[in-house]
Amino acid sequence: METAPAGGPHRPGDQHPFDGTPARGQDPGHGHGAGDGAGHGHGGDGGHGHGAGPGHGGGDAAEWAAWAELLDLDGEVFRAYLAGLTAWVRELAGDRPGGRIIDLGCGTGTGTFALARNFEGAEVIALDASADLLGRLTATARDLGLAGRVRALQADLDGAWPGLGAGSVDVAWASMSLHHLADPDAALARVLAVLRPGGLLAVAETDDPFVRFLPDDIGLGRRGLEERLHAELAAGTGAEMPELRADWDDRLKRAGFALVARRPFALRLTPPLPAAAGRFAQLWMERTRSRVADRLAGDDLAVLDALIGDGPDGVRHRDDLIVAANRTAWVAQRPGG
Ligand SMILES: C[S@@+](CC[C@H](N)C(=O)[O-])C[C@H]1O[C@@H](n2cnc3c(N)ncnc32)[C@H](O)[C@@H]1O
Repeated sequence: METAPAGGPHRPGDQHPFDGTPARGQDPGHGHGAGDGAGHGHGGDGGHGHGAGPGHGGGDAAEWAAWAELLDLDGEVFRAYLAGLTAWVRELAGDRPGGRIIDLGCGTGTGTFALARNFEGAEVIALDASADLLGRLTATARDLGLAGRVRALQADLDGAWPGLGAGSVDVAWASMSLHHLADPDAALARVLAVLRPGGLLAVAETDDPFVRFLPDDIGLGRRGLEERLHAELAAGTGAEMPELRADWDDRLKRAGFALVARRPFALRLTPPLPAAAGRFAQLWMERTRSRVADRLAGDDLAVLDALIGDGPDGVRHRDDLIVAANRTAWVAQRPGG
């Protein structure tokens, strides 16, 4: 894996409540060597409305493993969305899809691999601050037989990006990553510079980061538990991740992009759910618990524990589980070309 020059400061405890990644933190186990080169500007988006992030104590190896698993599960549960979205971007790229794609804040690479599948023969450079996530991405690339076309590059997207020449990129992709950055405008300016004239940027974001799994009445405790959990999570969101509800239309235009399309996605999965859904819900709720346990009423906490547990009330076994999330995708173009 390549490594970018050192970026921002490491603060392992600075995390986002529902967005997974230990923010501006240090990858566990990577010390101050190469893996420590990029300061993360994130608190996980587990985002994509991906789940609740590691606890505020921040970023031990088990938390990173759970975060990586959550990102992979998000990609698996929402596989059809990701496949459809990347196919749409490929369609918009038309008869000049090009040979180089960058995935900004790639996580474990769910977007990277969907892009590699749709852009046949293209090289996909996957950038992230986390050496742990990039390590997992590299292993998956090998398993999928894509190692020759996927390159992991450790970089702080709030700093300089190494090795990407001006105009050298055909398509840039940023899924649920831009809102983690300290300065998304500066990052968008860098994207514009590395894209060739006519090249595309696809951005996926959400103004509603929570994934929903439960009906209002789950037959346990008081109605509306999930809403109360989300209210507790949201209480810290504005301060911790101010870019989450940014106006990306405006941002893209101000950065010099021409807006090609915007498309909202209301993701609603009902039974029969993909096999990964139960574990996805369980991990989401574990992360949520780590954020809100000390503020929850005792009866709600007991129900949450039952949902997380492997007993009959647990989300892995319930037949009333759904998976619902909202995302919006923008495709923008560098003028010219
Ligand atoms: C919510 S995850 C999204 C991952 C992936 N794009 C996906 O859709 O599954 C956000 C990602 O952005 C990365 N990230 C956050 N801040 C970053 C920064 N300043 N530089 C590089 N990567 C960053 C995180 O490490 C994490 O992998």
